[in-house]
Amino acid sequence: MWLPHRIAQSAIDQVWVRDVRAGPLHDSLLFVDYYRPRVIKVLPWIEGGEMTAAFRTPLLKGAVNPADGQVYFVGMQIWGSTAERLEGLCRLRALTDDDGLPVRARVFREGVYLEFRDEASLQPDDYRLRGWNYHRSAEYGSGQFRTDGEPGVETWPVARVVRAGNGHGVLLVVPDARPLMQWELSYVDGAREWRELYFSQSVTPSLPRERLGFVDLDLSVTALASSEVETPSTAPAASLQRGRELATRFGCVGCHSLDGSTEGKSGPTWRGLFGSLRRLQDGREVVADEVYLHRAILDPAEDVVEGYYPGEGGMPSYRGIFTYEDLESLTLYLRSLE
Ligand code: HEC
Repeated sequence: MWLPHRIAQSAIDQVWVRDVRAGPLHDSLLFVDYYRPRVIKVLPWIEGGEMTAAFRTPLLKGAVNPADGQVYFVGMQIWGSTAERLEGLCRLRALTDDDGLPVRARVFREGVYLEFRDEASLQPDDYRLRGWNYHRSAEYGSGQFRTDGEPGVETWPVARVVRAGNGHGVLLVVPDARPLMQWELSYVDGAREWRELYFSQSVTPSLPRERLGFVDLDLSVTALASSEVETPSTAPAASLQRGRELATRFGCVGCHSLDGSTEGKSGPTWRGLFGSLRRLQDGREVVADEVYLHRAILDPAEDVVEGYYPGEGGMPSYRGIFTYEDLESLTLYLRSLE
């Protein structure tokens, strides 16, 4: 199963919750992330779903307590983490039966099948589907790549939303949904909040129409819109403010300090980086100008800073993830850190 680096960048533990006393968490697989301490719920039949359970304590290990059937986590700071606390013991308790996640979800060749406890929205505008592949390599991390192999992301327009005839689910009609390492579905939940679901599917089987209640499904009326390449014109203009936001959202600041220190950070500090002379591992010396910074973010293995090692905890590639405007925004932000 794949998850984007910005969602979980330090998977550290998994807990199977097999105790009925855990309530709605029963029968789920919980995926524990250390860096931005939180727990991600992996549901049976759903290949990945984000449940927003964030913690102030760094998380390292989770378990179900046989005495009360509840899920507990322990942890302490071992490396850059955004957690406020040094250490702690916490309990995860579901307060409501409905966490806003579908109870079942899967990508079929005809589109995405979703089943919620409550009614699902029938508005195509309430769903956004994107997808990409990763490249496996000896390097740490991967950019995002379209099905034609070029860096980038594909959006799959949802043509229609069809409610199952006798079932509970809905089908987001997306003609010719092909297998992808990473599907990202954003949807509006019952409280009108945008949520995200992630799928990894190496196959997209055809929809079991009878079993899921789509016997009368007629796809011939659907205009066969195929996937679209994301248009850069929708990208927000570059700004320092956006650069700061990206650095936080993508977790750069977990590895790079802003104040000149390196303690607890796996990467070099960003303070005074712009315009400085960088000594690289292979002996070259280069000025950290705009071109260098863009390359450092897209192809980190090209210029490794002296004293650093490209590998686990190293700089991941953000190729296909950032637009040119994003790179410009990050550069503006780095520039401001004198
Ligand atoms: C998991 C840790 C990690 C994360 C996350 C990370 N970096 Fe890095 N970064 C490193 C390491 C380690 C290096 C030094 C090795 C190298 O140069 O490739 C580095 C190097 C760099 C450099 C060159 C620095 C120099 O001193 O010359 C830049 C620029 C940079 N990272 C930007 C970013 C940006 C922007 C992000 C977020 C979008 C980010 N990094 C996320 C670990 C990380």
